[in-house]
Amino acid sequence: MSKEMTKLAIIGGTGMTKLDGLEIIRREAVYTPYGETSGFLIFGKLNEREICFLPRHGHSYTIPPHKVNYRANIWALKSFGITDVIAVNAVGGIAKNTPPGIVVIPDQIIDYTYGREHTFSDGNKPNVQHIDFTKPYSEELRIELISAAEKANVEIVEDGVYAVTQGPRLESAAEVNRLENDGCTLIGMTGMPEAGLARELGLNYVSCAFVVNWAAGRGELDIHADIEKYLNKGMHSVRAILKAFI
Ligand code: HPA
Repeated sequence: MSKEMTKLAIIGGTGMTKLDGLEIIRREAVYTPYGETSGFLIFGKLNEREICFLPRHGHSYTIPPHKVNYRANIWALKSFGITDVIAVNAVGGIAKNTPPGIVVIPDQIIDYTYGREHTFSDGNKPNVQHIDFTKPYSEELRIELISAAEKANVEIVEDGVYAVTQGPRLESAAEVNRLENDGCTLIGMTGMPEAGLARELGLNYVSCAFVVNWAAGRGELDIHADIEKYLNKGMHSVRAILKAFI
């Protein structure tokens, strides 16, 4: 599908409550059957292309990962005709090839979250939807993001297994070892149920994950010192990739 026919939304994560360079056209508050979204949806132009922006943790960064109303957010995007979603996620790095500072375009997910409203098949509709989640991310969008990174000259890792933990606490070192044994290369708290809900509503969804710290027990520095050191660098790379993508 040509870019003109797709409607793109960016869901901002930690470090991204605003989208630099976005010429704001309008803000829309959306009432959904699932409650409130993380905030109003912002429609604007980035590099001449109209996009929608929604900061997952709220415009003032007040909503923790387990309290994000993922269903309302995804439903609201769909209700505005959005077809493609780039989710920005700050994550911890587990694998040797995912050190702090690098951007990863994951291709797989393992969901360790619990107690989140994770489906639109909530028993109130006639059909239960068993979505195919073999490939949780849109391969087309992954390929496009990878070539955008090349265009922007940003070094990335082209695949990864994103472990989604409940948070908001960080993990113990033993938990990270377990995640590594499971095959995970990254850890974050917001990748699910967002990706599953997007698939349920037929949205093309991809994650642009940037590593801000070594996972617990892996780095030399204290985790928060890592985050302080690498958050800005990661954001800078993500912005460059998004600009090239658009
Ligand atoms: N663990 C879980 N979530 C995270 C991390 C982490 O180390 N870093 C950023 N988000």
